[in-house]
Amino acid sequence: MRSGKSKATSFKSEGDLNLSKRRTAWRKSLSAETAAWLDQDEKYFLHQALSTPCLNVLQGCRGTDFQDLQSREFLDFHGNNVHQVGFGNPHVIQAIIGQLEEISFCTRRYTNIPAIKLARKLCELAPGNLKKVLFAPGGTNAIGMALKLARAATGRFKTISMGDSFHGASLDAISVGGEASFRSGIGPLLPGCEHVPPPGAAHCPWSCGGVCNLKCADYIEHVLEKEGDVAAVIAETVRCAPFIPPLNYWKKIRAACDRYGTLLILDEIPTCLGRTGKMFACEHYDVVPDMLVIGKGLGGGIMPLAALIAREDLNVMADKALGHYTHGKNPVAAAAALATIECIEKQSLLKNAIALGDYALKKLQAMMSRHELIGDVRGIGLLMGLELVKDRRTMERAADEAEKVMYEALSRGLDFKLTMGNIITLTPPLTITQREMKRALDILDVCLIEVERRSRRRQ
Ligand SMILES: Cc1ncc(COP(=O)(O)O)c(C=O)c1O
Repeated sequence: MRSGKSKATSFKSEGDLNLSKRRTAWRKSLSAETAAWLDQDEKYFLHQALSTPCLNVLQGCRGTDFQDLQSREFLDFHGNNVHQVGFGNPHVIQAIIGQLEEISFCTRRYTNIPAIKLARKLCELAPGNLKKVLFAPGGTNAIGMALKLARAATGRFKTISMGDSFHGASLDAISVGGEASFRSGIGPLLPGCEHVPPPGAAHCPWSCGGVCNLKCADYIEHVLEKEGDVAAVIAETVRCAPFIPPLNYWKKIRAACDRYGTLLILDEIPTCLGRTGKMFACEHYDVVPDMLVIGKGLGGGIMPLAALIAREDLNVMADKALGHYTHGKNPVAAAAALATIECIEKQSLLKNAIALGDYALKKLQAMMSRHELIGDVRGIGLLMGLELVKDRRTMERAADEAEKVMYEALSRGLDFKLTMGNIITLTPPLTITQREMKRALDILDVCLIEVERRSRRRQ
């Protein structure tokens, strides 16, 4: 048996930690009944980084909130990015129930009307000539299909992807992904997966000084030229931390891909369907990838569903298997997705994402002027982040303080995720009201005050 170096410290860069002392202390604050269920969870599930022991046991979710076994309500500003239309959306639930009564599964080699309607709708919504769709039961599977299609279409196998990126947990996805907790100690990964620094002015290896000078995009072009036979560049259009590349970043990479015969695969699994204020994040950049991969909220936060949307002329695998997932054309998942898109359109949720994103960003910027701990505030639509730092000049990560803020927030009824240890990542549903947003940001403010006050006392 290997010792398994899954110690908290080695993954400090990737999220709030499951093995930290504060997770243990938080657990002790929960009721006896909750603790007993958490013990059962630990007993029966395989343990893994960032997860076990779990934070809590949930018994309900509705709209922006979830509820724990102690009947406490939490505003969920994480939601794994599945809750664009809110948890338990009644329109999506009705569509699922209706579909269950019609046709609940579609045997492979057959098709069904909801799946066809969804494929057609996605082709109508997607930009440019993205006109061919294939569904998969999860984002990781859809990424796998995109990687295979890139190989088949180009006759090449190399990829360029980003350090710190995440594209899923399977062996092919972790080969292009850049997170140590998924990649390390697991043996040989796919060959030909080149990694480059991701865009992110705050920690730029070319020291761009906080304003991206596109050296990171130039470097991708350099690698494309030197390698000469790269099948695909695969990346998240905007990274969920968030890191939002400047407007001409993707145009530059698109042009470089075209010059070297490389396909551009954009992973919008967590950001599709309105999170950034547009249906797809690439629309902000006026760039059309060769393949767009979407998922998470596509199934309305209820059904597992993802999709690969590809350029029409990439329909080149008719004699080979590309996906063939058992639930590839699941009619119930398709009905949930159609209802989800209908909600986004009918309830003008893109507008709400922009309006409340702007409102929140202003409040977060005002918070930054009051809290030294905040080194940067970033946001696009309802994808927002606060980077906590020990020193604004060096941008040294304040991971310990971020973890304290997270548990303070949990104790006051606000859930969010930490990314890279020190980035408070805020992704509420697109259905959120201004009142809920204000409440969440007020909680965050109080938590920052509390953590700063305690650290001043210790000095
Ligand atoms: C950017 C990105 N790509 C891919 C995935 C994998 O999706 P799934 O968990 O549905 O397989 C995720 C999941 O978090 C993601 O955030």
